[in-house]
Amino acid sequence: MTSNIPILTLNNVSRTFGTFKAVTDVSETFGPDELNCIIGPNGAGKSTLLNMICGTLPVSSGSISFGETAIHGLSGDKIARLGIARKFQVPSVFESLTVFENFQVSAPANSDLAILEEILSTVNLVEDLDVTASDLPHGKKQWLEIGMALTMQPKVLLLDEPTAGLSADETSATAKFLRGLVGKVTVVVIEHDMAFVRELGARTIVLHHGEVIASGPFSEIENNEFVRDVYLGRR
Ligand SMILES: Nc1ncnc2c1ncn2[C@@H]1O[C@H](COP(=O)(O)OP(=O)(O)OP(=O)(O)O)[C@@H](O)[C@H]1O
Ligand SMILES: [Mg+2]
Repeated sequence: MTSNIPILTLNNVSRTFGTFKAVTDVSETFGPDELNCIIGPNGAGKSTLLNMICGTLPVSSGSISFGETAIHGLSGDKIARLGIARKFQVPSVFESLTVFENFQVSAPANSDLAILEEILSTVNLVEDLDVTASDLPHGKKQWLEIGMALTMQPKVLLLDEPTAGLSADETSATAKFLRGLVGKVTVVVIEHDMAFVRELGARTIVLHHGEVIASGPFSEIENNEFVRDVYLGRR
């Protein structure tokens, strides 16, 4: 059974760039081992929010806690070591190494081979073990990077637009394996692709001009009139 203590708590998190408010007073909690999605139009502040959680960008005000540990103000390295892994939009894998060698680089030295095999299977790369990363199609490179993040056995996995540039089939396969991570790791996915978000069927947070305008199950979000207006450019 999972506990009810949030793994991640954002409390009035804000970020300004000069006088521009990129993220304003975001307060949200993320339960352990749950799947979450953050959506919103271009420039809504999604990446900025993710950057603040993983420590690549300092908060302007507010606080972020990992369990009961305050993490805003810690370096990105320290936050990663606490168990928050992040995948950037552009895959950053070691091009000249094979899939398995990439895993060996990212995984802690004492990693159990059985766990690495399970992760390879999760991200659909079992048959590509010996393939050099540079020879992988774009979609599998994205999966390799998600797999590499998983080898660190994080408590929280942050993904910024993991389906960018993927085919419909690859997008659907991604939704399937991310759903399979429920109960294993807390996942926060930033996405644009509504078909993908629908397939994830996760708790969804909607950002607009840096503020949370709605939060709840995707089925509710999809029928929220304000959210629809925002996506249709009416607000
Ligand atoms: N380093 C920066 N300096 C100045 N403004 C920035 C900086 N980073 C982001 N912004 C601005 O903050 C706003 C939010 O940007 P952010 O990248 O978080 O949006 P996003 O929701 O991820 O958008 P997209 O869907 O296009 O990726 C944008 O208006 C952007 O121009
Ligand atoms: Mg972004």
